[in-house]
Amino acid sequence: MEVHTRGRITKEGIRIHEDADFAGMRAAGQVAARILDEVIPLVQPGVTTGELDDFVRGRVEALGARSATIGYKGYQHATCISVNHVVCHGIPGPKLLKDGDILNIDVTVIVDGWYGDSSRMYVAGTPNRKAARLIEVTHDALMRGIEAVRPGNTFGDIGHAIQSFVEGNRMSVVRDFCGHGLGRVFHAPPNVLHYGRPGTGPVLEEGMFFTIEPMVNLGRPETKVLSDDWTAVTRDKSLSAQFEHSVGVTADGCEIFTLSPAGRFHPTWG
Ligand code: MF3
Ligand code: CO
Ligand code: CO
Repeated sequence: MEVHTRGRITKEGIRIHEDADFAGMRAAGQVAARILDEVIPLVQPGVTTGELDDFVRGRVEALGARSATIGYKGYQHATCISVNHVVCHGIPGPKLLKDGDILNIDVTVIVDGWYGDSSRMYVAGTPNRKAARLIEVTHDALMRGIEAVRPGNTFGDIGHAIQSFVEGNRMSVVRDFCGHGLGRVFHAPPNVLHYGRPGTGPVLEEGMFFTIEPMVNLGRPETKVLSDDWTAVTRDKSLSAQFEHSVGVTADGCEIFTLSPAGRFHPTWG
């Protein structure tokens, strides 16, 4: 009997992709990352989140990609833009950015059937010190999670790396939203929790593709969804931040598909 080590599904429903599939994910991830680079100069006090979304939509088309979010469960936009106490799934529109606003822009594109999903933080003007620290801790928490991605580790190891770092900085990890498997689909098993205990959860295997996308709050972790059925906010109105990469597990670690071509994933300000 032939033993299929790749191109199979684990008992937890996680697809183990083939070597050739990494190229597809890299191409999609690089389109998402390039657009997130290109939008940087537009994020200024006085711009609306709808104008930022229009720019992203135009760039997705110009680069020959498709937006994964337009038409997804009735969503109508090429981005989610989550400002200040919005945790995720903020709907772009007439909201004007003002000096000191912090925002996450989340873009998912489809290139040749493969999904590239990434988000990062931006600042309109200059952030206050607490906001700047929140952004730093959230970025570094994602990178700690990514450092735990290697065959033999577990998803609990990733969650633990993120949670222990965030809580060590006296901030909180959102429990109500998680990362996800992706590939030729947008959202697949497993749920990638941003908290957890070492050694728990599914074991990571070469060929797994998923996002890590921690949301971190300055205050308490609880969220609520507004009556538009999308916008998630912190219940205590505290500031929230998020960074997201799409990654693939390799023989000795992982490949980050959504690395910034310009080296500008981590925002700069001031
Ligand atoms: N890109 C988001 C994620 O990281 C999902 C957005 S779905 C939308 O999974 F419909 F809200 F756009
Ligand atoms: Co995602
Ligand atoms: Co996303």
